[in-house]
Amino acid sequence: MKLSFPLSVFSLLPLNLARQPTSKTDYTQASTEVLSKLMEYYHASPNVTAGLFDQSISPWWESGSIFETYMDYAKYAASNQFAVQVGEALVINSYDQAHDFFGTNHSYVSLVVGRWNDDVEWYAQAVAAGGELYGPESFMPGLSRRGNGTWISLVQRTIEEVYSYHTSDCGGGIYWSTDPSQYPTYKSGITQLGFISLASRAYLMTRNETLLAITEELFNWVVSSGMVNLTSGWVGDGVDTTGCAVHTDQWSYSYGQLLGGLSFLYRATGNTSYLEYTKPILATAISTFAPDGIATELCEADGSCNQDQQGFKAIFLRQLAYLYRTTEDTAVKDSIAAVVTQSATAALATCDGYWNCTGGWTAKTVDYPAFRSTHLVAAALVAAEGISR
Ligand SMILES: *[C@@H]1O[C@H](CO)[C@@H](O)[C@H](O)[C@H]1NC(C)=O
Ligand SMILES: *[C@@H]1O[C@H](CO)[C@@H](O)[C@H](O)[C@H]1NC(C)=O
Ligand SMILES: *[C@@H]1O[C@H](CO)[C@@H](O)[C@H](O)[C@H]1NC(C)=O
Ligand SMILES: *[C@@H]1O[C@H](CO)[C@@H](O)[C@H](O)[C@H]1NC(C)=O
Ligand SMILES: *[C@@H]1O[C@H](CO)[C@@H](O)[C@H](O)[C@H]1NC(C)=O
Ligand SMILES: *[C@@H]1O[C@H](CO)[C@@H](O)[C@H](O)[C@H]1NC(C)=O
Ligand SMILES: *[C@@H]1O[C@H](CO)[C@@H](O)[C@H](O)[C@H]1NC(C)=O
Repeated sequence: MKLSFPLSVFSLLPLNLARQPTSKTDYTQASTEVLSKLMEYYHASPNVTAGLFDQSISPWWESGSIFETYMDYAKYAASNQFAVQVGEALVINSYDQAHDFFGTNHSYVSLVVGRWNDDVEWYAQAVAAGGELYGPESFMPGLSRRGNGTWISLVQRTIEEVYSYHTSDCGGGIYWSTDPSQYPTYKSGITQLGFISLASRAYLMTRNETLLAITEELFNWVVSSGMVNLTSGWVGDGVDTTGCAVHTDQWSYSYGQLLGGLSFLYRATGNTSYLEYTKPILATAISTFAPDGIATELCEADGSCNQDQQGFKAIFLRQLAYLYRTTEDTAVKDSIAAVVTQSATAALATCDGYWNCTGGWTAKTVDYPAFRSTHLVAAALVAAEGISR
């Protein structure tokens, strides 16, 4: 049903399905409300946990992905509403003047603070989005906190730091942890898939051919290692270099990040093979994570998702929107639109009139804390905004 009033008119009324958004304008209005609500959980400068969302509920990496949600919104809505807070957050998390997500003491940050290669890639993807929005060579904001470089220089620095953990063990791939005491033999899938997306986006801004070469080589490795099967569209969790065995856990964000990465790799190369590969992967992703049309992490069925896993489907949905905006294939677009729209509808229905949400999108799922649910709803609405007209 088309809305006939701005959502804000109803913002003190309980939500119901009769006022679900349908147009891009509706989704923008709903996204604005939910993203504003989400900001209530953000710690601004000068608090000790400044630059982050509620750390009692949200792991560090997730804040990086949330900042990219705000970047998506800024693009889709052509809005500067959250630009100051998000720019400041990315400067704070890259240690202000150090302009580096690992700070000036890498071993302190990886060992003590616990930042891993995939973690910094979430932040760097938000920074890449900032480069796309504001110009790669423009300076990161010097707000109440001072940055020390451009958007693209922070992306490039992160790429080089992460790629320094690339080895030929088991034929290629980047190690997950930078801390030798934590999972030293694991090349997690998400680290590779995040890199493919990040480096493809950096290439599109710099035309640095080395970035494209290492990205295509890495993509070939995720296939040759058995972590991604392009025939069945199956995506595993990663490769343990002890025996080169593939770990088979299934996560929606792996599928999402690969679909988004292939979209950017196609944009970077013009090679339509990369878009062809998305078809079986998308089909498997939907039959696995949205068999009834609404995105659901497998671990939701028995309530076993940990804090990390609770946030995965937010990434899944946003990355589906990236593929939607890249492909011309109407069957692919239709399947994405069905999942994103149904998920956004189910997500929004869990919110009350104050935009406090519970996250139980399906009969199976358990309720989450309000912060977590608000993030998930925001991502679903922003993804829906990205695919709407
Ligand atoms: C800093 O933290 C205190 C206590 O948690 C809170 O009341 C205050 O609003 C925070 N300030 C900012 C700027 O986030
Ligand atoms: C700012 O960046 C410049 C150039 O990379 C560097 O020389 C300088 O040390 C940085 N400032 C701080 C305080 O880290
Ligand atoms: C960097 O951090 C590590 C781990 O806490 C510490 O052992 C080391 O002394 C630090 N190095 C410097 C130069 O501060
Ligand atoms: C191009 O990317 C490669 C790989 O990250 C890097 O080593 C090189 O310095 C980059 N070149 C420029 C001009 O930034
Ligand atoms: C990939 O999937 C196809 C189709 O399900 C299967 O026949 C093949 O064995 C799989 N390849 C690998 C390396 O697992
Ligand atoms: C496109 O990518 C595919 C798969 O990686 C590769 O086999 C093919 O040679 C590429 N085509 C061109 C024109 O580069
Ligand atoms: C719901 O939102 C209101 C207004 O922002 C807030 O005061 C309240 O604490 C929230 N309730 C829950 C359960 O989060």
